[in-house]
Amino acid sequence: MNGSKFATRLMLLGAPGAGKGTQAVRLVDELGIPQISTGDLLRNAVAAGTALGKEAQSYMGAGKLVPDELVLSLVVARLAEPDAAKGYILDGFPRNLSQAEALVSRGIVLDRVLSLDVPKEALMERLTGRRICRACQASYHLSFNPTKVEGICDRCGGETYQRKDDSADVIANRLDVYEAQTAPLLDYYEKMGILRRVNGTGSIEGIYAALKDALVM
Ligand code: AP5
Ligand code: MG
Ligand code: ZN
Repeated sequence: MNGSKFATRLMLLGAPGAGKGTQAVRLVDELGIPQISTGDLLRNAVAAGTALGKEAQSYMGAGKLVPDELVLSLVVARLAEPDAAKGYILDGFPRNLSQAEALVSRGIVLDRVLSLDVPKEALMERLTGRRICRACQASYHLSFNPTKVEGICDRCGGETYQRKDDSADVIANRLDVYEAQTAPLLDYYEKMGILRRVNGTGSIEGIYAALKDALVM
């Protein structure tokens, strides 16, 4: 990418439905660094029926945060895998101040936090119409970003499905939890000098271009 230096230890911050997953897969495909989504890691643990998954399930089903120590153990293990050595895109983590401080205390330093700003009114419609690929977790929308063939992922050919927590009542809880527990991270990372805010409305490609501009060091 034109000789500029890009940040590679990244975090995507934003409300449920802001487009973190949608944009992360594009960054993965272009930058060649992995997306580390705590939501995906937790859903995998639930599907695999691990002890951690069994404990996390009820929190996720209610749209509440899973206890910090469970999420931290997943993230720390994932960051230690070889593909994360040259950078990563944290998606959905940290999600409260104590998780952010847990990273600092482990010496894990982020280069840039990209906030996707979307008005609350738009989020419910985005989430109720969402479909996800079972195989690669790519995110689609029945009207805003449909797959070329209904039910089949454009990126990998996998089957798409609707997430259990994408029902109107659970979405409402997730949005409240975001306001109360996650939004304070905007101030936290602003003070650290690594926050960049990007308008998360408009075309997916236009938002992606703005995100890449915000990665230049
Ligand atoms: P998680 O999986 O992280 O869910 P979330 O934060 O609620 O975020 P989403 O995945 O819903 O939104 P997104 O920003 O990725 O949106 P997307 O790109 O898909 O977490 C789930 C649960 O796990 C939590 O509730 C909690 O229980 C637990 N958890 C996870 N991390 C945790 C942590 N750190 N600590 C404790 N608990 C944790 O896009 C949404 C829709 O919009 C799609 O349909 C998409 O096609 C569409 N869209 C995207 N961009 C646009 C656009 N520009 N215009 C129109 N539509 C668009
Ligand atoms: Mg997501
Ligand atoms: Zn896929």
